[in-house]
Amino acid sequence: MTTKLTTLDQKKAEALLGGGQKRIDAQHKKGKLTARERIHFLLDESSFEEIGMLVQHRSNDFGLDKERYLGDGVVTGYGTINGRLVYVFSQDFTVFGGSLSETHAEKICKIMDLAMKNGAPVIGLNDSGGARIQEGVVSLGGYADIFYRNVRSSGVIPQLSAIMGPCAGGAVYSPAITDFILMVENTSYMFVTGPNVVKTVTHEEVSSEELGGALTHASKSGVTHFACANEIEAIQHIKSLLSYIPQNCEEDAPSVPYEPGNELRPELNNIIPENANQPYDIREVIEKVIDENSFLEVHKLFAENIVVGFARLAGKSIGIVANQPAVLAGVLDIHSSTKAARFVRFCDSFNIPLLVFEDVPGFLPGTDQEWNAIITNGAKLLYAFSEATVPRITVITRKAYGGAYDVMNSKHIGADMNYAWPTAEIAVMGAKGAAEIIFKNEIAAASNPEQKWKEKEAEYQEMFANPYRAAERGFVDEVIKPEETRLKLIKAFKMLENKVDQLPKKKHGNIPL
Ligand code: HXC
Repeated sequence: MTTKLTTLDQKKAEALLGGGQKRIDAQHKKGKLTARERIHFLLDESSFEEIGMLVQHRSNDFGLDKERYLGDGVVTGYGTINGRLVYVFSQDFTVFGGSLSETHAEKICKIMDLAMKNGAPVIGLNDSGGARIQEGVVSLGGYADIFYRNVRSSGVIPQLSAIMGPCAGGAVYSPAITDFILMVENTSYMFVTGPNVVKTVTHEEVSSEELGGALTHASKSGVTHFACANEIEAIQHIKSLLSYIPQNCEEDAPSVPYEPGNELRPELNNIIPENANQPYDIREVIEKVIDENSFLEVHKLFAENIVVGFARLAGKSIGIVANQPAVLAGVLDIHSSTKAARFVRFCDSFNIPLLVFEDVPGFLPGTDQEWNAIITNGAKLLYAFSEATVPRITVITRKAYGGAYDVMNSKHIGADMNYAWPTAEIAVMGAKGAAEIIFKNEIAAASNPEQKWKEKEAEYQEMFANPYRAAERGFVDEVIKPEETRLKLIKAFKMLENKVDQLPKKKHGNIPL
């Protein structure tokens, strides 16, 4: 028996070393943690239970029969984060550069299947040179097995991807299907083809970082939701993100204790500038309404004219979508629409109520937007709100113009409660443009057309640049003082706590992609 135990110990010790000490040192030299160190920092102490530690690849081509490592380049298993069950896979770059073999893929699929059956999130820590080149098509098949499970799991259990090294070729598509991507600045990149292929095909010279680094994807493409300064920050973000999210689509998000107190926030009364064309930072409104320091912004650097993120209100998790008047006047364009639509759909998938702050002058005009399909992309946000069955509340702080009024969670598309501040302006368009169109002949015939235009603009402004027309119709449920906002929202979300709403029976909708 003693020898048998020793053999087991030896095998486990060998597996813990992955591709060997030299390669572990090389990993550290690059400023990267190893696969196991990442799991150690991610999970509650001593909670990790490894699955498949002794798995080896089955390939004999290109000398692989002489090179086998226990675990085959990925550490998989389960554990807890703040006491809640999660499944995790962590690719080990010290073994064939973390490349994905048939067996490596099988290990990942095994924990994905367990996660689905047991209703808990899957966290992928990616650090891989892509398909195991020596294995050919079986490796590609392994990727497809993962993609298939990613799609089947979508909307059932949360899936999070941290990119902590290379992620290239078709390998990018598994993270792309998951709910959130986190990248680490300077040590991770994602692209379909690397700088060399780019140079050959398009003659562009570009570095890996510029082409597909964390900041590129956080600000230009929106592929990643978070750009983190280092791996520890990425791991902290994963934990924080999970604290707002339920284990699966059947459960509610965890809440934190809440002590009711004075919920009035008089500072909010002075946030909207006197001049309606002056910007203000919607984050100030958000911060004053929600529980202190509870805002976790998602996609912070991408499409900054809309702000989305998780927060807590009276201890309960909510998703916030807010036009940002401080950037492009808060206009809706292609990127802001798709950013918000994806966030709304995530929240709706996982029973997280939605709070919308609206200050939007309309959709962004122009050839760039039209030719790149603002129609289809703007429709995504309209679709996402319309199909969401979670409790939904809108607060119109200032402008609610044109189609954007309808799109931004109006009552007409199913919002449960809509509030407006007295500073709200709810109309088809801004007064100046409106006057020019409807009083065109009168203005042209006037002895002083400029003066006439101004008069008519003031007339339209007087009539529509307020919340009362909408309130008369019941399109706004209540006009409230800004200072009351938090109190009203706490009460309204409580009132909506047991909301039941269902979509008509269908296979699935056909969102305009
Ligand atoms: C097998 C690989 C590998 C791979 C790296 N290695 N990538 N082994 N298959 N795909 C091995 C290396 O041989 C080396 O082994 C070790 O991993 C570390 O690699 P290095 O090149 O020394 O590291 P580094 O300089 O940091 O460069 C990392 C890298 C580079 C940028 C990832 O290795 C690279 O370009 N690899 C190939 C990437 C690629 O083209 N993959 C296929 C993409 S297509 P030793 O023994 O020296 O430690 C794809 C299709 C998926 O993935 C499609 C899904 C639909």
